[in-house]
Amino acid sequence: MVEDTRLSDVELQRQHEQVWDTYPGDDRSTFEKAVAVHEALPASKQFATVLESADRVLTQPRAGVPCLDDQIDLLETLVTDGDVDLLPVTIDSYTRDNQYEKAREGLERSRETDADELNGFPAVTHGVEGCRTLVEAADAPVQIRHGTPDARLLAAVTFASGVQSFEGGPITYNLPYTSKYSLEETIEYWQYVDRLAGAYTERGIRINREPFGPLTGTLVPPSIAIAVCIVEGLLSATQGVRSITLGYGQVGNLVQDVAAIEAMKTLGVEYLPDEVTVTTVFHQWMGGFPADEPRANGVIALGTAAAGIAEPDKIITKSPQEALGVPTADANAAGLRTTDQVLRMLSAQSVDLEAVDRERELIERSVRSLLDAVYEVGDGDVARGVVRAFDEGLLDVPFPPSEAAAGDILPARDDEGRVRLLKFGDLALDEDIKRRHRADLETRARTEDRRPSFRMVADDVSAVSDGRLIGRPGGD
Ligand code: 5AD
Repeated sequence: MVEDTRLSDVELQRQHEQVWDTYPGDDRSTFEKAVAVHEALPASKQFATVLESADRVLTQPRAGVPCLDDQIDLLETLVTDGDVDLLPVTIDSYTRDNQYEKAREGLERSRETDADELNGFPAVTHGVEGCRTLVEAADAPVQIRHGTPDARLLAAVTFASGVQSFEGGPITYNLPYTSKYSLEETIEYWQYVDRLAGAYTERGIRINREPFGPLTGTLVPPSIAIAVCIVEGLLSATQGVRSITLGYGQVGNLVQDVAAIEAMKTLGVEYLPDEVTVTTVFHQWMGGFPADEPRANGVIALGTAAAGIAEPDKIITKSPQEALGVPTADANAAGLRTTDQVLRMLSAQSVDLEAVDRERELIERSVRSLLDAVYEVGDGDVARGVVRAFDEGLLDVPFPPSEAAAGDILPARDDEGRVRLLKFGDLALDEDIKRRHRADLETRARTEDRRPSFRMVADDVSAVSDGRLIGRPGGD
């Protein structure tokens, strides 16, 4: 059974060798050489330093194209046309799936046809040298954003290239992305990633790690996202990570979004060890977007308003072309400018929303209830606890593609558009909290003159892309 204990130096070394043995390139780096690459980076490219010392909300989009020179141009456009603060490198699906041969073929086809034959940047295929060139060319700190359940080689290669931030974790990059791995397997893979980040940290190179808070992206109750991110943060901290960014995705109710960001900050600092610097990231809407660009901008602006009020350290931006899939560089820069405008206008204001305190208290109590269950079933060990908690449905996420979560809970919006639970499965929430959810959904049911039912859930899932927040019958 997997345990939340630090990998020994010998074990790290053993796994490190094994991981590099799967590297298809011929420019393998030593750890010492990699440390020298990081040491040569100016402060303006040190991810944790820039993120942790900022005095305003920093912006970051997603962006990845197959060819190295195109990726360099893309990042440059985001800087010049999008005023971006933190740069992403979004990885293609073959690399996420560890299919490096297919990624190589896709890259070659992209070069031959001058069209993008991959949906992101195949970092392992570009190898240590290619990624190093990218980090050198970039005008801001760079983070790898992906969705790779087994990201061991991706981490080894990109850390060796000077990359100082890496998204994902054993739960948040398992449950939403794959049915191939158990949580025990992904926890072991990510213990290596985190221990490697820890090894750099011990050499003075603080690698930032970021759990993927939005999870399945659809009506995820804030307390579940926060509890899962804290568990991943704890696992990372055990392996020596000292810069952790907890994440949460916009649900669209302004009060709930502000409350969730504030609760995440407080709970993150409380639960993670003192030697960890905790930061937070807010993701603009991860569900279905309106196809109409002006409406998509509305969704982006409302999300940004929550961030402008609650002030997380970072916001992940969407583009007005979200409904079409991977955005063009121009659309991506447009999303950044919309976000920047709203953030600037709100930074001059301090907004007090009356209902936030009550909502925040509910979220905090719920997170504590979920985390208590994790500690309890793990006999104090979070790795064991999280595996058992998901196995028993004490922790759960809505609509998981993975079998590692029971998927027995059903979310629906209440009469104000806050995400509540219609069906709790075995989720470890106390009766009092459940009563609140039921009462809030009853209020909505009365307004709509129908019973709380799966119909409501289905209506809510498509509401935002249809131009609303709550999936009311008749559409008003
Ligand atoms: N470039 C930009 N955005 C991307 N996304 C996925 N791949 C890329 C890429 N290569 C975005 C999707 C969606 C989110 C999950 O990630 O458009 O917004």
